[in-house]
Amino acid sequence: MINELKKVAIVGDGAVGSTYAHTLVVDDLADEIAIIDLNKEKAFADSLDLLHALPYLSASPKKIYAADYADAKDADIVVITANAPAATFDGEYDRLKLLEKNVAMIKSITKSVVDSGFNGIFLIASNPCDIITRLVAEVSGFPKNRVIGTGTLLETSRMRQLVAEAVAINPDNVHGYVMGEHGNSSFTAWSTVAAGAKPIKEIEHRLPSYVQMDQKIREVGFDIFERKGNTSYGIAAVLARISRAIFRNENVILPVSTYLNGEYGQKDIFIGTPAVINRDGVRELLEMPLSDEELKAFSNSADILRKNFEQIAD
Ligand code: LAC
Repeated sequence: MINELKKVAIVGDGAVGSTYAHTLVVDDLADEIAIIDLNKEKAFADSLDLLHALPYLSASPKKIYAADYADAKDADIVVITANAPAATFDGEYDRLKLLEKNVAMIKSITKSVVDSGFNGIFLIASNPCDIITRLVAEVSGFPKNRVIGTGTLLETSRMRQLVAEAVAINPDNVHGYVMGEHGNSSFTAWSTVAAGAKPIKEIEHRLPSYVQMDQKIREVGFDIFERKGNTSYGIAAVLARISRAIFRNENVILPVSTYLNGEYGQKDIFIGTPAVINRDGVRELLEMPLSDEELKAFSNSADILRKNFEQIAD
């Protein structure tokens, strides 16, 4: 932590960035929130609007303002949520389609943040998340443990909700991970999933098929997107969860997009993997035993990400 006060700079004040800012305030996770957006009027308006919420929330006093990149200098976390306006799915729901139109913008954002003197942790929600995270790591030159993508933490939340509903238990008691790409090649490592201490395989008769659940987990983001034009609450909660792990030095295991150096047979890639998160970013990966089928799905996802990154590599 650069200073006792916990500071976040958010790049991109769209549906995700503004909802994340609100979540930071409601959960009382940060003391200072700097909102950076090309649309300075929007950033100014949101900063005022958020300050007006404070008196009725049990949150500590905060500085919230429309900011410039220079304000990222002493931030503990810089969160990148921006997507290029032209980045659209063009009717084909695959986050990888957003890559080409986001690359130049992400490179520019990353350079502007680094030029400010920022020396904290990058947190990335922009899509396609895993490739954008690797791009930020390479452009910034930051230690890889301080460049974290939201990864499959959102898919894991979606899986936990699905299983909880099917088994009629609290999602807090559904354990396990979705891994791989934050996208169409993600997969649930069902061998890691349990209801309390009961392996999910022992109650699979109470669930839809694994194929059906994985398909739902991959597609539900688009179901939401089709109806409201974005997703915001889930991904904002994911960003806040990782922020909390950093600010409170939790050493909690979360499936974020992080760098692999041989784990699960994969090297030199950012991909959704359970990692221990604390105030320094990713502390370590506690490699889990996966089935042959799960390792194959992970390798497939890694290959897709590697192939798509190579298309934008300088
Ligand atoms: C989603 C976006 C964040 O899955 O990719 O909701």
